[in-house]
Amino acid sequence: MHLKKLFRLGIILLIPFILIFSQCHSSKSTEDPRGDAYAGSATCVNCHKNIYSSYVHTAHFLSSGPADINTVQGSFALDKNIQRFDAHTQVRMEKRKSGLYQVTYKDGKITQSDRFDLFFGSVKGQSYAYWYANELFQLPISYVANAHQWINSPGYQSNEPDYERMITSQCLGCHMSFAKSQKGALPLFSENPEGFAKDSIIYPIDCERCHGPAAEHVKFQTENPEIKEAHNIATYKSLTRDQKVNMCAVCHSGANNVMLKATYLFKPGDTLSKFMRVVPSNLSVNYKSIDVHGDQTALLQSSKCYINSSMSCATCHDTHQTQRDYTLLFAARCMTCHTTSNKCKLSNQLNAAQLSQNCISCHMPSFSSKLIIAGESGALVHTHHITVYKDEAQKVLNWLKANNTKALAIH
Ligand code: HEC
Ligand code: HEC
Ligand code: HEC
Ligand code: HEC
Ligand code: HEC
Ligand code: HEC
Ligand code: HEC
Repeated sequence: MHLKKLFRLGIILLIPFILIFSQCHSSKSTEDPRGDAYAGSATCVNCHKNIYSSYVHTAHFLSSGPADINTVQGSFALDKNIQRFDAHTQVRMEKRKSGLYQVTYKDGKITQSDRFDLFFGSVKGQSYAYWYANELFQLPISYVANAHQWINSPGYQSNEPDYERMITSQCLGCHMSFAKSQKGALPLFSENPEGFAKDSIIYPIDCERCHGPAAEHVKFQTENPEIKEAHNIATYKSLTRDQKVNMCAVCHSGANNVMLKATYLFKPGDTLSKFMRVVPSNLSVNYKSIDVHGDQTALLQSSKCYINSSMSCATCHDTHQTQRDYTLLFAARCMTCHTTSNKCKLSNQLNAAQLSQNCISCHMPSFSSKLIIAGESGALVHTHHITVYKDEAQKVLNWLKANNTKALAIH
């Protein structure tokens, strides 16, 4: 702590140099920091206008970005901007001329304050980070959306606001498209500090993050407007099933994996095991211990639906659109396979509307996140282990009964 304060002063001397360097760099060109093979999402809009204009409203496109009054969801209003730790200690979220800050007060005196520089997430909640030289640290307070409230950041000890948790490239690797790694400028806090070139960051999850580099594709299609098939880009149908799933698994296999290299440049068809050693979470054993980084890939892969079919994530999800809570749309996806021979066992008790409206609640129920918790409840996350959940099903049946549907019970 003391060392950090000292270093903080030292770094003020360094900042002018860092600024000069980064300006030299950024004035050179507007090239894509990932290299010439990448075209940048802005070029896709010319030919894929519909996809682009719906995609920009999705959770993926809101997965990270610069923090400002428009992107930070929590309240800065008086009394709503306080997170209390004990009788002496609180953190206040404050608006200042130079930005938004998290400010720790001890007995009314400011002991630390750092700026909201980046946000992560937009649906269930948000976490924030501040720059410290070329390193990123998570701010002590996060926001949880269902309770509309600030919380002590997930996994943090509750007795002291903690500004020292380093944000790693693994975290950025799932929430954005690129950040060039550098050696961290502050070796004092960790033996192997990670830093990032600020001007190399590409927010959020863009088109080429999933589809791979597309500059050659753009060039070809621009020069050959009469050709209506895709060239110089991996087409989805040409991929094997594992390759299809890995397009998503690269970020949706839980957050405990051993990273072998950064995943930013993973492209369709690449071998996932070259990028990470997947550490199976214990979710498939205990499906209720789910967290917000719920391992959808392993959970789905443990389901009979997956084992006995050739489904991929795209069988149910169109990632170019927001489909959250589109219960009937998802039920229709189930019904592409579960019509006649493979029907729900309750088909003789429930009518078609009751079945499809509650299909997901009964077979892919939500459980409280063990990670983002505020007040009584946690953020809700759907399990991807698709099976029969007798307790959850009975709850739905009880609800139907209470709402004047004829008496129902599972036999
Ligand atoms: C000059 C026009 C043009 C531009 C610019 C363009 N594309 Fe395409 N793209 C096409 C055409 C034409 C097709 C084939 C028809 C279709 O699938 O829409 C296609 C198809 C695709 C496919 C479909 C592959 C499949 O599974 O069938 C992907 C993915 C794709 N483009 C990604 C991109 C991305 C990412 C960008 C921006 C970096 C981009 N395109 C920019 C014209 C363009
Ligand atoms: C680069 C990492 C990355 C890749 C690749 C990726 N995702 Fe995600 N996905 C995320 C992150 C991060 C979030 C949470 C974003 C947020 O809520 O801010 C997310 C959220 C989602 C959601 C929740 C959307 C919502 O509205 O709440 C779905 C569904 C999803 N992803 C499906 C997929 C599928 C299917 C694929 C593959 C086609 C995929 N993702 C590929 C990182 C990724
Ligand atoms: C392995 C990839 C991965 C890593 C590493 C990762 N995340 Fe996530 N994160 C996700 C995905 C995927 C989701 C969305 C899950 C869902 O909707 O159920 C998510 C959700 C979130 C959410 C909730 C967002 C929302 O809109 O619901 C926050 C906040 C968040 N992550 C912050 C972080 C921070 C901070 C780090 C690093 C300390 C981090 N994540 C590391 C993939 C990752
Ligand atoms: C989260 C991963 C992800 C992101 C981000 C993403 N796509 Fe896709 N895209 C997919 C998947 C998966 C498919 C295959 C869907 C299928 O065939 O069922 C696809 C299919 C396509 C296709 C061909 C099929 C179609 O729907 O016409 C085009 C064109 C395309 N994407 C362009 C884009 C563009 C442009 C962007 C950015 C605005 C983008 N994609 C962002 C995952 C993604
Ligand atoms: C691509 C086809 C396909 C889709 C889509 C699909 N399933 Fe399945 N599902 C299967 C197959 C195949 C089985 C295995 C049947 C068997 O074992 O005889 C199965 C099994 C099941 C089972 C029994 C699981 C168990 O552990 O006994 C349930 C419940 C189920 N599916 C519900 C769903 C729901 C709900 C959806 C939509 C969210 C869905 N399925 C989507 C193909 C599919
Ligand atoms: C059988 C259909 C089906 C398949 C296949 C499927 N999903 Fe989902 N997924 C759903 C449903 C249903 C929801 C809940 C949507 C809702 O109501 O908001 C969901 C939600 C999600 C969410 C948000 C989780 C939450 O509740 O916060 C993520 C992330 C996600 N899926 C990722 C994936 C990934 C990655 C794959 C492939 C490994 C995948 N899904 C395959 C049906 C499916
Ligand atoms: C009210 C809760 C509920 C709803 C709604 C519901 N199910 Fe079921 N489903 C169950 C229960 C409970 C069983 C097991 C019944 C038994 O074994 O006696 C079951 C059994 C199944 C099975 C057979 C599993 C096996 O063992 O063979 C499939 C497949 C299935 N459901 C699919 C669906 C699909 C698809 C939908 C939506 C269109 C749906 N269910 C809607 C509760 C529900």
